[in-house]
Amino acid sequence: MKILFISLGCDKNLVDTEVMLGMLASRGYEMTNDEQEADIIVINTCCFIHDAKEESIQNILEMAEYKKNGSAKALIVTGCMAERYRQEILDEIPEVDEVLGTTAYDRILDAVDAALAGQHEVMTADLDALPLPETKRLVTTGGHFAYLKIAEGCDKHCTYCIIPKIRGNFRSVPMERLLKEAQDLAEQGVKELILVAQETTLYGKDLYGEKSLPKLLRELCKISGIRWIRILYCYPEEITDELIQVKEESKICHYLDLPIQHANDTILKRMGRRTSKQELIDIVQKLRKEIPDICLRTTLITGFPGETQEQHEEVMEFIDTLEFDRLGAFTYSPEEDTPAATFEDQIDEEVKEDRQADIMELQQEIAFDKAEDMIGREVLVMIEGKVADENAYVGRTYRDAPNVDGLIFINTDVELISGDFAKVKVTGALDYDLIGELI
Ligand code: F3S
Repeated sequence: MKILFISLGCDKNLVDTEVMLGMLASRGYEMTNDEQEADIIVINTCCFIHDAKEESIQNILEMAEYKKNGSAKALIVTGCMAERYRQEILDEIPEVDEVLGTTAYDRILDAVDAALAGQHEVMTADLDALPLPETKRLVTTGGHFAYLKIAEGCDKHCTYCIIPKIRGNFRSVPMERLLKEAQDLAEQGVKELILVAQETTLYGKDLYGEKSLPKLLRELCKISGIRWIRILYCYPEEITDELIQVKEESKICHYLDLPIQHANDTILKRMGRRTSKQELIDIVQKLRKEIPDICLRTTLITGFPGETQEQHEEVMEFIDTLEFDRLGAFTYSPEEDTPAATFEDQIDEEVKEDRQADIMELQQEIAFDKAEDMIGREVLVMIEGKVADENAYVGRTYRDAPNVDGLIFINTDVELISGDFAKVKVTGALDYDLIGELI
């Protein structure tokens, strides 16, 4: 039987997809990208913001057509949207056979059996469960880098965020389990590990009584084959001196993703964030002082309820002063069942978008200047692939996470393959990307 698997949403969801793919492959199912020849279709959904929800629904409806016309025998919906709208999905889209919650994805084989047997049901587990199936993941990211999900859920309860309701409370994956998974990935050829979780900085607090990310990182550094380790989703208030000191390990990328969401104290408080503007300034300055070549990424939300033009300008000034290397701005999306959705002073969509555009325009200038500053520097590049029909390759430096950051283009006749590391001199800048030559 052939399976078509559609994975939507974030890298955390992608890890769940890869676990499910591993389980399906272990049973001998063949994967296909062709809807027409798929016997079973699985969609791993996202519902973080309105657009993600729309995309998930669109995908389910499109795939339901293949069930309707008889070419597909089973349609299964998993992931965040499945968890949140379980019964609604079954009731509203009768072509869906099985709905699998976020903590029940390890039952994907049961779901396939049940769907093929003509059942129509929701399979969920305790929202705070932590499925740890033994089957090896099927890495879908090209083989040279992989995400390592070190924890699940979140306890922070920011007022705009639905995640705790669909992913449960924060719980860490035991360290020995992560080290084994990382070892397996290294044996499969993975050279870059990207640590993800709703929040990575709190890793281990629940299991070991103390924040254990530094210890985990030092242990991961011992795995041969792994050359780069990158950390995403760090909460500013959870960054410790001990974590900063891990900079001395040569495999740790001097790169930190630090989502701050806003810079005005009133809005930060209404968002339920646990930092103030001054604390954010202090941590950024400290990181830059301790690790001068650090590349800092952040995300911001525009048009949170009650955000005034002055508060927006304060964010602009903040960005202008701190000059994050990478930055993404998103418009606020009111999510049902979150406190912020009930706040009365919601902002017009147009204003949210204008403010988002303002921020991105400013960031563009900052990013372009920073790219220019790289010219003349020698950097280590991980090759991502060859540019079609040209003697050129594309890669990433330690300053670039896959899919969200920039790239570097290298013209050369030398044969390179994905996952190779090359020393490159930066010779030019193309907006967010760089151009370089092999040394
Ligand atoms: Fe990720 Fe979307 Fe779920 S962002 S955690 S897949 S709601």
